[in-house]
Amino acid sequence: MGIREVLSQKIQAEGGSLSFAEFVDIALYHPEFGYYSKGPHIGREGDFYTSPTLHPIFGWTLARWIHQVWNQLGWPLPLRILELGPGEGYLALDILTWFQQKEIPITYALVERSPTLKQRQREVLQGKPVTWFTTFSDLPSPVFVVSNELFDAFPFFRVQWTSSGWQELRVVEKGGAFSFQAFPLQDPELQEFLKRYRPWVHEGQILDVAPQAYQFALDLFTHLKQAVILTIDYGDRRPSLLRRFPQGSLMVYHQHRVLDHPFGNPGNVDITYHIDFDLLIEAGETQGVEPVYFKDQGIFLMDIGILEVLKELERSVPTQEEEIKARLAVKTLVYRFGRSHQVLVQAKGIHAPLLQELIKQKKRRT
Ligand SMILES: C[S@@+](CC[C@H](N)C(=O)[O-])C[C@H]1O[C@@H](n2cnc3c(N)ncnc32)[C@H](O)[C@@H]1O
Repeated sequence: MGIREVLSQKIQAEGGSLSFAEFVDIALYHPEFGYYSKGPHIGREGDFYTSPTLHPIFGWTLARWIHQVWNQLGWPLPLRILELGPGEGYLALDILTWFQQKEIPITYALVERSPTLKQRQREVLQGKPVTWFTTFSDLPSPVFVVSNELFDAFPFFRVQWTSSGWQELRVVEKGGAFSFQAFPLQDPELQEFLKRYRPWVHEGQILDVAPQAYQFALDLFTHLKQAVILTIDYGDRRPSLLRRFPQGSLMVYHQHRVLDHPFGNPGNVDITYHIDFDLLIEAGETQGVEPVYFKDQGIFLMDIGILEVLKELERSVPTQEEEIKARLAVKTLVYRFGRSHQVLVQAKGIHAPLLQELIKQKKRRT
């Protein structure tokens, strides 16, 4: 049996149609055939690059900033980081290497859904002070929470606003091929969840929404006591997200190419969407988590001193090749990913204006 049969059986079991969120969940996370159960997907050999897989300077820059913030908040050592959705583990590796070179005590916890990627992280992070968490119930405090491209990897529903209300675009199978078909939205929880989008939708608008991402954030925020939360992903604040993507933001990647639809090669392609950062802000508001900063990744990296990290690297007498690679990576991180990705910083149990001031001070000094 392959993934097509798994999906087919699921569609039949559900009475002939499957929510797109369940389709994506199986396509990405089925333990045997799911996209994240196979590899490698990220980097040159895979389907897409992420900032940590481009160059370690991304992780070093974050490490340096995390250290500055930790010190300025007066938090005790060891410094504690929690990374969510670490993929191949390169961000953890680069952050830990930076701290270990500076001999600053640190503990690093990871939360990963895919057993295959967890195994990969074990290999990449061998000998490093890392642990894996499966629940948020005993998180350390204070803690610095980091994620890069986690929330775009959650299963998401496709819905459309029409003159007769919300329609759900569900997956059906006809003649052995999967496709979308519109059904009146039945799920009362999803109906309730979608109320927050009503002020911004127009007739015909398609929306890709991930209530599971909201629940995940809510669960995390509930368990945090004192924390800074750094979320990096592609997406937008709600009004401009809906303006930018009137037909939804669903994207399918295979070997660095964008495909037209998600049904051709399930299990072997990345199915993703642009995240709604307002969901994280709303989840935070219910749990005393305050938004501190929201900007493009490029501006954020400049604000926190990526050029100073580049200068430090240049002072360490790298080979010409290393120097060129680092400069090119900075260019991509600041300009290309810098414009497509956004950064949200939130804080719990900290005077948020103080944190805001810390980011601004850094900017004034550079
Ligand atoms: C697009 S990859 C990004 C990987 C890495 N952060 C990077 O930037 O290269 C998404 C990651 O999030 C993980 N993930 C997705 N849903 C998760 C969940 N509910 N809990 C923990 N990890 C999750 C995936 O397995 C994968 O490691």
